[in-house]
Amino acid sequence: MKKTLLSLAIASLAAGQSVCAAVEKVYNEPDSVYIFSYAHPEDEGRSGLKFAWSPDGDKWLSVSDGFAYLKCDFGRWGAEKRMIKPLLEKAEDGRWYCRWQLTPSGKVWGTSHSSDLLKWAPQQYVNAEKPAVPRLVTARQIVLDKDTLNGYMQKVPYADIEQLIRFAEHKKFRDIQNNERTEQDAVRFAGLKPVAATIRVDTGRVKPISEHLIGIFFEDINYGADGGLYAELVQNRDFEYSAKDGARDKNWNSTYAWSIQGTDAELSVSEDSPIHANNAHYAVLEVHRPGAALVNNGFDGIAVKKGEKYDFSVFSKVLDDTKGGKVLVRLTTKDGKEIAQAAIRVSSTEWKKQKAVLTATADAADAVLSVCPQMAGKYALDMVSLFPQNTFKGRKNGLRADLTQTLADLHPRFVRFPGGCVAHGDGVDNIYDWKGSIGALEERKPLRNLWGYHQTRGLGYHEYFLFCEDMGAEPVPVVAAGVPCQNSGTCSHHSVGELGCGGQQGGIPMEEMPQYVQDVLDLIEYANGDAKKTVWGKKRAQAGHPKPFNLKYIGIGNEDLITDIFEERFTMIFNAVKEKYPEVTVIGTVGPFYEGSDYEEGWKFATKMGIPMVDEHYYNTPGWFINNQDFYDRYDRNKAKVYLGEYAAHLPGRPNNIETALAEALYLTSVERNADVVTMTSYAPLLAKEGHTQWNPDLIYFNNTEVKPTVGYYAQQMYGQNAGSEYIASSVTLDNVQDAVKKRIGVSVVRDGKTGDMIVKLVNLLPVAVNAQVELPSLEGMNTTAVKTVLAGKPTDQQVRPVSGTMEVSEKFGYELPAYSFTVIRINKNEK
Ligand code: AHR
Repeated sequence: MKKTLLSLAIASLAAGQSVCAAVEKVYNEPDSVYIFSYAHPEDEGRSGLKFAWSPDGDKWLSVSDGFAYLKCDFGRWGAEKRMIKPLLEKAEDGRWYCRWQLTPSGKVWGTSHSSDLLKWAPQQYVNAEKPAVPRLVTARQIVLDKDTLNGYMQKVPYADIEQLIRFAEHKKFRDIQNNERTEQDAVRFAGLKPVAATIRVDTGRVKPISEHLIGIFFEDINYGADGGLYAELVQNRDFEYSAKDGARDKNWNSTYAWSIQGTDAELSVSEDSPIHANNAHYAVLEVHRPGAALVNNGFDGIAVKKGEKYDFSVFSKVLDDTKGGKVLVRLTTKDGKEIAQAAIRVSSTEWKKQKAVLTATADAADAVLSVCPQMAGKYALDMVSLFPQNTFKGRKNGLRADLTQTLADLHPRFVRFPGGCVAHGDGVDNIYDWKGSIGALEERKPLRNLWGYHQTRGLGYHEYFLFCEDMGAEPVPVVAAGVPCQNSGTCSHHSVGELGCGGQQGGIPMEEMPQYVQDVLDLIEYANGDAKKTVWGKKRAQAGHPKPFNLKYIGIGNEDLITDIFEERFTMIFNAVKEKYPEVTVIGTVGPFYEGSDYEEGWKFATKMGIPMVDEHYYNTPGWFINNQDFYDRYDRNKAKVYLGEYAAHLPGRPNNIETALAEALYLTSVERNADVVTMTSYAPLLAKEGHTQWNPDLIYFNNTEVKPTVGYYAQQMYGQNAGSEYIASSVTLDNVQDAVKKRIGVSVVRDGKTGDMIVKLVNLLPVAVNAQVELPSLEGMNTTAVKTVLAGKPTDQQVRPVSGTMEVSEKFGYELPAYSFTVIRINKNEK
């Protein structure tokens, strides 16, 4: 028992407390107690490592209601990540070691260690036999809140339990904050009157900030590329769909989206003498009597517009000794009405590309394309393609004009591509190999998309570079750091025993790494190399772009598990890029969350290696964004810069509404304040095709005929169109001292160095208006009629749009921030 009992009692007396109360408190605190560690068998430990404690080893109390102090990372999202029978021990080095089974057989184990049971080292996964129970640890069965639990018991100082409880309570407090929702506002802000605010802008305190703050992150998720941004209208044009791609659809095979219309014809698939080994399958259409057609119904139909022209092309040959002949190409509506027609000739016995132009005579949302030989015969057909001529900037093999324009309207300063998870892939064999995505379309390597479909890669690296160029945005390609997604579900080369084909990150075998590193260097050469003097620069020129793309950034890795396997491979790539292309900024990775072992180890590693920038990701609740506006205020300015590469506010049910949009807008005021260290940001994911969505919320939804930007999109647009290069300090004084009120008002003032315009951003996440008095010390040379844009609505609104108008400003002007609103006031510099 505590020796300080008497002195504490005396101190308490002096403080005017009763001796009994003081004695009671201290008397009941034991020196050492029993800790019982367990994982719940009901969910096979997916909810993590938990504790109970007991003063006597008999009566047990839960530590913070079953709070989990460590969770298993092994395996894919969802069903895996089990922690079975964790065995915890304190070793002689003073560290806690935890080992747990990853599967019921007990042949493979996860391990981690910690100095305090609170922060845990990155996990390792090993083949091992069941470890012996250490001498000071006892296997026990206890009853806790009516649950019978098996685990291990050992003695610890009572202070350890107190520390565990304090930690959990703090986390729970943070959880309460993070779960603050506008639906609780009626209670939280009951009786709240409109708030009065004085906003003082201090033009004497300015700092330069990044001009690349707002960008976009494009990943082929939710049919973002094929069937989405990539304007190709024919689905499965290459007959390369395979059962492996379509995890969500049992019918995926080479003839997906194709059918025969009419009689006396058969469709089969052949691999005999294809156009190219990368494009191994093609259609064989055997027509016994003319009349039948091979039909493609596009991606949920083919949408065409009256009067517009469409480029049709196909690789074909005749496979039998008939001579072939005329082939009609038609677009027909669902009810069979022809709305476009053209003809080609197929008579060659070698693969030959044929082209035709179709002009639509009517609008149709869901037309089908049919290829209809006019002569009996056996025809080989591949790369059957239909493109609108009206693509973004009129590019051939280009992008859907309306969707791309919507992206361009964000004024993105950069584009990160091709993923996300797509970049590092589901297993080593699924890593996005950029070389397979360039060159002639018929020679590109299609790739299984880990989101459950097929990537033709018609939208490949060359097109990504053009896309950036056409929007005036910096290209930010992301290559795998020699390791695939940490949640990979397929074979990794570093397999763990019986989990060899499922589970963990793994890495490209070391003997293959030199070639992989070379591939990364070749990518930079493709982007920047001389068109005549370099191998890959020449290829870029052959693809129609002799001028370099002027690549300045390259991402290496995507929220990877920070392990030895990762570090070893990252280092090889990083050093090689640094040596050959010191002018290119490498962006490292620090895991999928804003905390935890990958975040911490990732930052340590980045600092050790001198990585100039790291990519942070977090998808959090609106409450998190409200309560963590100081997140970057604390960042060390001497360490790596930050690219916030993926973020979004997530509510239950995952809507994109005013509540999420304002939480993001509010947080971005704090990011602008820190845009000396946070140099780029991109909301994620960007695009989602209705009916084919694997992830919500997204920034822009679309179908074949409509583009539906969300309210979150408009918040991004207001930032993108009103970016600055200088941050001007400001202060906010309120007539209300409630912390919750203060946190819901965000202000950011920037100046756009190019135009000289001053931009004031004001966010109000309160249910009442904020009457602001804005003090701008000097408006000399500025136009006092400012442009005001306001996005406001009820928190659940998903359809509201920003409204723009003008307002008069002066060195002291009043502005009422509507309840739940985001306002941008742009004060233009006088042109004279
Ligand atoms: O944005 C969707 C996914 O979220 C990305 O592919 C991945 O990087 C992250 O987990």
